Amino acid sequence: MHIHKYERLWLTAGLAMLAFFIAVIATGAVVDGFVPPSRVQTIDPTKVAQTPPFDHPGLRKVTDGNYEAYYVAQIFSFSPATITVPVGSKVTFYVTSSDVEHGFSIPETGVNTMVTPGWVSSVSHTFNKPGTFLLICNEYCGAGHQLMASKVEVQ
Ligand code: CUA
Repeated sequence: MHIHKYERLWLTAGLAMLAFFIAVIATGAVVDGFVPPSRVQTIDPTKVAQTPPFDHPGLRKVTDGNYEAYYVAQIFSFSPATITVPVGSKVTFYVTSSDVEHGFSIPETGVNTMVTPGWVSSVSHTFNKPGTFLLICNEYCGAGHQLMASKVEVQ
């Protein structure tokens, strides 16, 4: 079978790109220990309600303007339902799930992570604008998925 010179060139370039992409993915996986970057620690998903700090989900003040917020995602709600922080606060969110895969997203802030049972996901954001921010589940998790939301009040 005859393969035209240019066709062979394009085939070679295509295969080289494939090999390059696979190498990039493999390197990323090895460097991050086969764990997506936002998963900071593991947790027993059947014991979330007994595992500190997730036995008392909510907001903790670290220093002035610096907060940590611990969330449990479950079908079909987030605990806590609302947190309130002053304008300019940096909030580090720690989220885990006690049942299935959920999402954790605050549109227009860059806060967006998946919430996988067995893992604690973490993401930080500084709230420089006052207002009520909707925190939603953006990963389909069942019949009540569209009802799964919580609020961040910035005053
Ligand atoms: Cu939780 Cu969708």
